[in-house]
Amino acid sequence: MSDFISVTDLGHEGLASVLELAASVKKDRGAVSGSRSGRTVGLFFEKPSTRTRVSCEVASVDVGMHPVVLKRDEVGLGSREAVSDVARVLDRYLDALAFRVFDHRHLVEIAEHAAAPVINLLSDLEHPCQAVADLQTVAEHRDLPGTVLTYVGDGNNVAHSLMLAGAMMGMEVRVAHPDGYAPSVDVTEEASRIAAAHGGGIRVGTEVDDLVAGADVVYTDVWASMGQEDEAADRAQTFERYRVDERLFALAADDAIFLHCLPAHRGEEVTHEVLEHDRSFVFDQAENRLHAFKAILLHLTA
Ligand code: CP
Ligand code: NVA
Repeated sequence: MSDFISVTDLGHEGLASVLELAASVKKDRGAVSGSRSGRTVGLFFEKPSTRTRVSCEVASVDVGMHPVVLKRDEVGLGSREAVSDVARVLDRYLDALAFRVFDHRHLVEIAEHAAAPVINLLSDLEHPCQAVADLQTVAEHRDLPGTVLTYVGDGNNVAHSLMLAGAMMGMEVRVAHPDGYAPSVDVTEEASRIAAAHGGGIRVGTEVDDLVAGADVVYTDVWASMGQEDEAADRAQTFERYRVDERLFALAADDAIFLHCLPAHRGEEVTHEVLEHDRSFVFDQAENRLHAFKAILLHLTA
């Protein structure tokens, strides 16, 4: 059974087919209803969530899977019980295991000890379900190959999955980050290799105006991710030049769209004006989390 811990786990064909399925289930929500009837999925959250928790629960119900939602304090992953034991026990009950965790290594360990597909609902390293919804949203406006997407801000989990997923679909993904907040070197190298094989490209640097110039999509995320709250004040100063405001957005292509995984902090990483711009599609993007997760679940439990 395959897992979805990194967006690369799907492979190029898999990602293309999940994106196609996500677009088709969006058009006809009833078409796949009950198709996984009688099965179960565990949804575990070690961090807060609105979109992921609700979209995954609703998507599961739509395909007929019973979602079992688990919280950090109930399970005590790695504290109340060894990560491997939690995985081995849940694997006896559930047909798919979806986890939001602090430590990406826990996901890898869970996958090693569970036969059921393991899905990453966000870790410190990646947010692959988000990237599928992001590309679904871009594809509603542009053909993915050749599209230039500039991510502005922290080289974090969201940036990593976008770089990898964009590269897999032949996009040019640029990351504009403050000094000291570059995406991981390993992810950058892997994304560059993948991009080269699919006619895309990766550009990473600190020159935000240059990197946004002419982009088809401008994307940002919070400056301090969940678990980094005590760094928020320092980061607010360091990231000041990386706020997506009307001046920066205007450097992109005339018909560029704006995306954000949400939750957004208006006035920090993005201004109210850009978030509410008529070329901002952040709420379509949030909706697409539902369709994307449904497609991922169908793909992994076929
Ligand atoms: N974008 C996203 O993952 O949102 P939540 O943290 O609310 O799930
Ligand atoms: N980078 C953010 C994404 C939230 C959806 C975080 O990890 O908190």
